[in-house]
Amino acid sequence: MRRLPMASVVFSNKNGKLTMSAKAYVFDAYGTLFDVHSAVSRHSDLVGENPARVSEIWRNKQLEYTWTRSGMDRYVDFWSLTEQALDFALSIVPGSNSDCKKILLDAYMTLDCYPEVPSVLKKLKESGAKTAILSNGSPDMLSAAVNSAGLADLLDHQFSVDEIGVFKTDPSTYAMVTDEYGFQPAEIAFQSSNRWDVAGAVAFGFKCNWINRTGQPDEYLDLGPKRTLNDLNGLF
Ligand code: LAC
Repeated sequence: MRRLPMASVVFSNKNGKLTMSAKAYVFDAYGTLFDVHSAVSRHSDLVGENPARVSEIWRNKQLEYTWTRSGMDRYVDFWSLTEQALDFALSIVPGSNSDCKKILLDAYMTLDCYPEVPSVLKKLKESGAKTAILSNGSPDMLSAAVNSAGLADLLDHQFSVDEIGVFKTDPSTYAMVTDEYGFQPAEIAFQSSNRWDVAGAVAFGFKCNWINRTGQPDEYLDLGPKRTLNDLNGLF
């Protein structure tokens, strides 16, 4: 277990008021840095009659499979679950074209990042902060998405739960970060657009920002974030 010394980093917003201090800024990947719906959006003309519904079911099933598999202690990597979830979505949505499966899976390897991501990561790096991803994604998926979005130099670590064979919200997944850095959980700022992931990270003790990009109602009320932000620009 490697432990690295790290200075605390303090940020200020446009008005000069302190907004947050943390020793490392850790980001969920899918939905937080990368737009999971960009695969279907890019190829919506090929997907069939209801591309938005396919994309929504694809994502929901992918997540469901992680929770059930962790609960059963029957880990299967996230890439396989992503493929199984797409099979289900294309089968259940009437008028879908299952021939587009390979194209959609290829697109999932190079999802668009949200527009503010490069500049936010750059500012964090310039401030001296550690930056990292902590994701359910398999290592190959993460590095393909990071490289295609041009983020490789802006991230110090890509923590994949594949190393430990269990998905978020198992506490051991969040502990990958504290084990690597030797920090207390409360010294880590964790950002996720997935409210269930924020709940898991809060339960572990991370200081969380919920990136509520789509105006979702709050839930897991006993496991709330420090702040709710519209996008990652709210970190500054
Ligand atoms: C991630 C997915 C679950 O861990 O959003 O990146």
